[in-house]
Amino acid sequence: MRSCWRNSSDTSFNWFINILNKILSQKIILITGGTSQLGRIYVTKALDEGAKVYFTYFKQKDLAKELSQKGAHGFELNLADTPSLDQFVKSFREKEKSLDVLIHNAAAVRDGMIQNMSEEAWDYVLNVNLKAPFYLSKKLLPLLFQRKSSKIFMLTSRLALKGAPGVANYAASKAGLIAVVKTMAQELGRKKVLVNAVNPGFMKSPMTADAPESVIRQNLQDSSLGQFSNPEEVADFLIYLCSDKMTQVTGQVFHFDSRKI
Ligand SMILES: NC(=O)c1ccc[n+]([C@@H]2O[C@H](COP(=O)([O-])OP(=O)(O)OC[C@H]3O[C@@H](n4cnc5c(N)ncnc54)[C@H](OP(=O)(O)O)[C@@H]3O)[C@@H](O)[C@H]2O)c1
Repeated sequence: MRSCWRNSSDTSFNWFINILNKILSQKIILITGGTSQLGRIYVTKALDEGAKVYFTYFKQKDLAKELSQKGAHGFELNLADTPSLDQFVKSFREKEKSLDVLIHNAAAVRDGMIQNMSEEAWDYVLNVNLKAPFYLSKKLLPLLFQRKSSKIFMLTSRLALKGAPGVANYAASKAGLIAVVKTMAQELGRKKVLVNAVNPGFMKSPMTADAPESVIRQNLQDSSLGQFSNPEEVADFLIYLCSDKMTQVTGQVFHFDSRKI
């Protein structure tokens, strides 16, 4: 009888220790674009590492449902629509009073050469990729301030630094994010909010699915390793950055790639 009790207690104790040993245990994380190629892997890994994970999605309802079945909490949201952002923040604040990590990962593309790029395509990409991260960061800062230390990450791109034909709106949005990161890091350092950018490198994903063969080839040639970025590894890197193992870096751009130039 007694040994039975000890066994079940030991099991619960081990379970409890296991949870505490996970590197994102007790962290509340919000990632936009949880349905992206990178996002869906990150959400799953963050759950496995003990985090409470919230994510936004846009069109991929089925995938969002799968992530919810794994234990994440999804919000349908069009990041281009500011009133929807207000509604989302209101709903989120009803659920959580604090936040450890905010990841601006969702992004849109509407490619076209400058002479063909519509004002609508410019505004849409800038609204989703740059304005929404600004707006959500501003509105969620009070929750991030509730923690002794918290973090914001913005997913950027090499295109922010080097451009490419047809992506002026996307490149400008990703360059803008770097400027926002550098500024916010200085403004929020004393409040112990770390703000960094992560360039995941060229990954095969819906975003790059329509890239011409020449662009794919060029990306392979530009890599010293002759390979694309693996979203699994990028997600692992993000998990590490979100954990308490990283406490001393802010205002930086992490390049998770192998480019020669
Ligand atoms: N793939 C690359 O080679 C590469 C290179 C450098 C940087 N990055 C950056 O890394 C991040 C992840 O890239 P990825 O390739 O994994 O992306 P992806 O698979 O193409 O997914 C894009 C995400 O953005 C969401 N989204 C698009 N428009 C939206 C809108 N109007 N409102 C709300 N959400 C919207 C999509 O939601 P739904 O799917 O639900 O519609 C999806 O979750 C992005 O910030 C991207 O710019 C990617």
